[in-house]
Amino acid sequence: MTIPSSITLDHRPSAAQRRRPDGGVGRPQADELDAAIASVHGRAARVLTGDRPTGELHLGHYFGTLRNRVALQDAGAELIIVIADYQVITDRDGVGPLRERVLGLVADYLACGVDPTKSTIFAHSAVAALHQLMLPFLSLVSDAELRRNPTVKEELAQSSRPLSGLLLTYPVHQAADILFCGTDLVPVGGDQVPHLELARTIARRFNDRYGEVFTEPRALLSPTPRLLGTDGHKMSKSRGNTIPLGASDDETLASVRRAATDSERYITYAPLRRPGVSSLLDLAAACEGSDPRLIAEEIGNGGAAALKQRTAEGINELLRPLRTRRADLIADPGQLSAVLRVGAGAARLTADERLATVRTVMQMDY
Ligand code: TRP
Repeated sequence: MTIPSSITLDHRPSAAQRRRPDGGVGRPQADELDAAIASVHGRAARVLTGDRPTGELHLGHYFGTLRNRVALQDAGAELIIVIADYQVITDRDGVGPLRERVLGLVADYLACGVDPTKSTIFAHSAVAALHQLMLPFLSLVSDAELRRNPTVKEELAQSSRPLSGLLLTYPVHQAADILFCGTDLVPVGGDQVPHLELARTIARRFNDRYGEVFTEPRALLSPTPRLLGTDGHKMSKSRGNTIPLGASDDETLASVRRAATDSERYITYAPLRRPGVSSLLDLAAACEGSDPRLIAEEIGNGGAAALKQRTAEGINELLRPLRTRRADLIADPGQLSAVLRVGAGAARLTADERLATVRTVMQMDY
């Protein structure tokens, strides 16, 4: 049997989930989850994903990957989250308010339901052995392969700096993040798929050359449409068009109100002809766990003002409990640092072991 290189979780609630008080919003169907995490070796899968601490996590992250992470953890997968602090300097000179951002990420994870007693959260800079894996990995890829990586190209185009060695090679570094712990599944947004393909290639080439050491991980995609930001472009921190998880109700309403719509009063769902209106409908539907066409019908003549009101309410409703938990967590940075220290300890053990195996198969165990 050939194993596909990616699998997709469907977040439309099942009939049973819709009957629950929260309408099953944001949870993939239980049978799909079981299939996803058991399909690897007949044991619970090891799931790894990560974020670069360049700003606040936002709704795009929530729908693209955060809720998948929590659903996987709750279904019994072993969840590992890497905070990719070295990735911050791929396309910029300074690290910015790094400590605050890293602790903010930890608070976001915990507020979303990541349980640090079950899952591992660590910053990759704290795990030296992980970085050493990058050396043999670099020998397995050509510069042409790296230069055609779409994310590298995009980041280079957006940056005013010349291509740095780290930007060019960071997908290889990310392969070390992914491969060091025998990851089976990587829940990511579509933009990360080329990185995952590279990690698979590196695992395969290493195994061919030195013997079976690395597992080829698969992408776990979630079919939520690429949510557009409030300016109609892809939601991204660098564009300033996001709705941060930690924003207040009023800030959320204000940014949704700024979203561009069009001059047609009657609300319809037509992604190509009416991207602004349809993107808000997608957002509202994702938050409510319902269908954008249905919401469009319900709003109809209410026009853009009603659509924005409904979208902001959907977001605020979904995020309210999370925001309350996040505020409590942020008030206790010592506890957030402790989560990272424990996570780094666990990651170090795994990385040291993997590096020892690598050195052995490369005959470097003198
Ligand atoms: N490159 C990812 C991003 O920018 C973050 C990341 C780093 C990551 N290491 C990872 C994602 C490993 C998945 C797996 O969002």
